[in-house]
Amino acid sequence: MDDFHYQNDELCCERVPVAKIAQKVGTPFYLYSYNTLRRHFRVFDEAFRTVPHITCFALKANSNISVLRTFIREGGGVDIVSGGELYRALKAGADPQKIVYSGVGKRIDEIEFALSSNILLFNVESAQELETIDAVATRMKKKAGIALRVNPDVDPQTHPHISTGLKENKFGVDMKKAREKYGRAKRLRSVDIKGISCHIGSQVTKITPFVDALGRLKKLIALLRKDGISIRYVDLGGGLGITYKNEVPPHPVEYAEAVIKSAEELDCTFIFEPGRVIVGNAGILMTKVLYTKSSADKNFIIVDAGMNDLIRPSLYNSYHRIQPVMGNGRKEINADIVGPICESGDYLAKGRTVPAFERGELMAVMSAGAYGFTMSSNYNSRPRVPEVLVNGGRFYVIRRREDYRDLTRGENIPSFLKVRR
Ligand code: LLP
Repeated sequence: MDDFHYQNDELCCERVPVAKIAQKVGTPFYLYSYNTLRRHFRVFDEAFRTVPHITCFALKANSNISVLRTFIREGGGVDIVSGGELYRALKAGADPQKIVYSGVGKRIDEIEFALSSNILLFNVESAQELETIDAVATRMKKKAGIALRVNPDVDPQTHPHISTGLKENKFGVDMKKAREKYGRAKRLRSVDIKGISCHIGSQVTKITPFVDALGRLKKLIALLRKDGISIRYVDLGGGLGITYKNEVPPHPVEYAEAVIKSAEELDCTFIFEPGRVIVGNAGILMTKVLYTKSSADKNFIIVDAGMNDLIRPSLYNSYHRIQPVMGNGRKEINADIVGPICESGDYLAKGRTVPAFERGELMAVMSAGAYGFTMSSNYNSRPRVPEVLVNGGRFYVIRRREDYRDLTRGENIPSFLKVRR
């Protein structure tokens, strides 16, 4: 059963009515179902049980340490893209040997932090980065595990902002130049070549782009092995899409079957970096209607969550289902759901047919567990909202609401601006 469901016409998360949580913590807030988080992780991870693999959750999708802990307790690893994410992963108790570090712009202090934490490997995205990692590792008398992230140049057929595996994208190294770069890596003193990686994009709703990418990787791996380079890990990145509206993405089991089949005879450990598919539909954003107003040809529902809390609609024009908390089946209207931010782009939904929400009423913005809180900001000096985790019949505030003091924490007035009395 869906963990976000109606019971007696009232929206519940697992066994807790969401209105009860709203009463306790106020609105807006992010709400996650522990049961869904764990189930999604297990479904993904178990789909690959017949091959050696590590499921490294892409922390950028949801970085709350309780959420991370949920997957770590299930044996999961973590995919990180910054020193801050490494800090979170370690704090949540991740096994460093299950941490992979991706991203095009790793700083020296971040590389040092990762080396001293003994992470499994760096997904290296350029020749200069490779040299830098080698130099830092030499200085620290360490060996750096690496995989080159290659750009397989396949079209993931997703939103241009989140497609990453095309030639024109900034990610990875050119397939054609990869062999030469591996040759160079082999000669470096403090680099241990462990594998190869790729990530083609996000919210991918077809299997073919993944299979195409793997096919290209396989050809390259064969050449590399001929060159005497041992490839023990193959990292296929993340990207599996979810249903926001009416997309029909492949089930993780279908994805796994396709990958496993085309990966036969590779003889390596697979790494996956799923983010959205694990957490996207395990979380919602709860908000409250502040006001309603209508102009000649438009209805507006003004809510207390804005683009600073959930930027996906404004940034990618993405769709999040809007649901009432109490009572379905009343009159419907066409409306824009907008936030309090002073920008026309501040909306959660546009031109949507929704129940005629009333002032003071609670509203659920669905499928907000991935890239929701992690992309939120303090824009308009709005304190960031709390995150709440439900487990069965209980709920836990896993991140408190920020207060006004949090807003100015770290700021200083220089002496020349101090008021003279
Ligand atoms: N691995 C790498 C190297 C990535 O760049 C990403 C996502 C992932 C894994 C996880 O991808 P997923 O399984 O979640 O699709 N903010 C955008 C999504 C950006 C994705 C960036 N990279 C959104 O809200 O749709």
